[in-house]
Amino acid sequence: MYINFWYPVVRSEDLSYDQPEKVRLLGVDLVAFRDQNGEARVLSDTCTHRGASLGGAWSQGEHRPRIIDGCIVCPYHGWEFNGDGECVNLPSLGYGNKAPARAKVDSYPVQEKYGIVFAFLGDEPEETRIPLLDVEEFNQEGWTANEILVLEVPYFYERSIENGIDPSHNEFVHPTHGHSSIDRETYSVPDYTPEDHRQGWGFWFWAQFDSPPLPQKDHHTAGGQDTPWGDVKTVDHMKVFVGGGTYGPNIMPTYINITEDKMFRQYFFEAPVDEHNTKIFFLNMRNFLLDPKHNGPIHARNKVIAGQDIQILSTMCPEQTPLKPTDEVLVPSDNAVAAYRGWLEKFDDKGWRIDTVAFNARHGKDKAFAIPSPARRTSKNWVLDEIPLLKDRADRKEKNEV
Ligand code: FES
Ligand SMILES: [Fe+2]
Repeated sequence: MYINFWYPVVRSEDLSYDQPEKVRLLGVDLVAFRDQNGEARVLSDTCTHRGASLGGAWSQGEHRPRIIDGCIVCPYHGWEFNGDGECVNLPSLGYGNKAPARAKVDSYPVQEKYGIVFAFLGDEPEETRIPLLDVEEFNQEGWTANEILVLEVPYFYERSIENGIDPSHNEFVHPTHGHSSIDRETYSVPDYTPEDHRQGWGFWFWAQFDSPPLPQKDHHTAGGQDTPWGDVKTVDHMKVFVGGGTYGPNIMPTYINITEDKMFRQYFFEAPVDEHNTKIFFLNMRNFLLDPKHNGPIHARNKVIAGQDIQILSTMCPEQTPLKPTDEVLVPSDNAVAAYRGWLEKFDDKGWRIDTVAFNARHGKDKAFAIPSPARRTSKNWVLDEIPLLKDRADRKEKNEV
């Protein structure tokens, strides 16, 4: 897991104006809320007073406001923190009196886009920060989006990303795609070449699939409605172009060109909760079947497909991607996986990988760590220690005894 990337925190529609949302990301707790202008704000969740959870609950039966004048109120002694993380009211000193400068929590840059609240979790200054992925067709004429599907899955996000860029699992994991039978005489995965993409921060590849027609029994989706693939079913045998790649460690776009003018563009924005759990925010765009009546069936179908992936990915051993390539047997169809791991090594060399061994040894026991926010570059006096990081790939290998 890495600091200094944009992570999805909560769906816009799930962040109300009067209740904070507590979420875990990269192993630490954060609290999201809306300030007096309705802007989403994301802070470190640990109160610097004596460690209560800012997003935690008030005592039972209490109905006092959780957010006052755009500030989140700690449920323990009522300290009030604004969206920049400053303590602006400390009741025991008397409302309106100045709180000590150290009484501040980390506040993270936020962007609300595509129906998702994203936070930049790290201290990289704005000039050198990775931009949030631009979904160019969002809100564009001729395209429509499904509502964001959130999948909570019990496995490590890197395994999830690697699955999404893996062109050799469809026939085995997704029989409902129409890939249920394999011609043992002719089957193999066509060669493809991952290349770093123009935006930097990741790679891209195109592959052509010889897709068999969907079987008739698949005519209806799980919900008993017409399959969203529409007239595509009537094509006997077709070539489908699929493009896939990664952007940063946790974002994965996939383009599916069913025909030259019928396309899906799917985006997985992944939030590593910790090393064992991931929350996937799935944006599915399409430029055909634009009528909203198709949203339901498309949703239902995506859920079926995701369920198949979840089943297999819940069995992975080890949970995390191995450090040494020799711990697995990678073949040419895994070139995309290798390209992804190559990018992770670049992020290692920036010193952004969390030292999970050091973190887990102490966090929540005798220490609370925080992900450093950009303000740590310009001001001192922070109460919580920064989350431990591995300084480069060599450090990672040494610490993990590779
Ligand atoms: S622990 Fe938050 S106000 Fe005391
Ligand atoms: Fe899959």
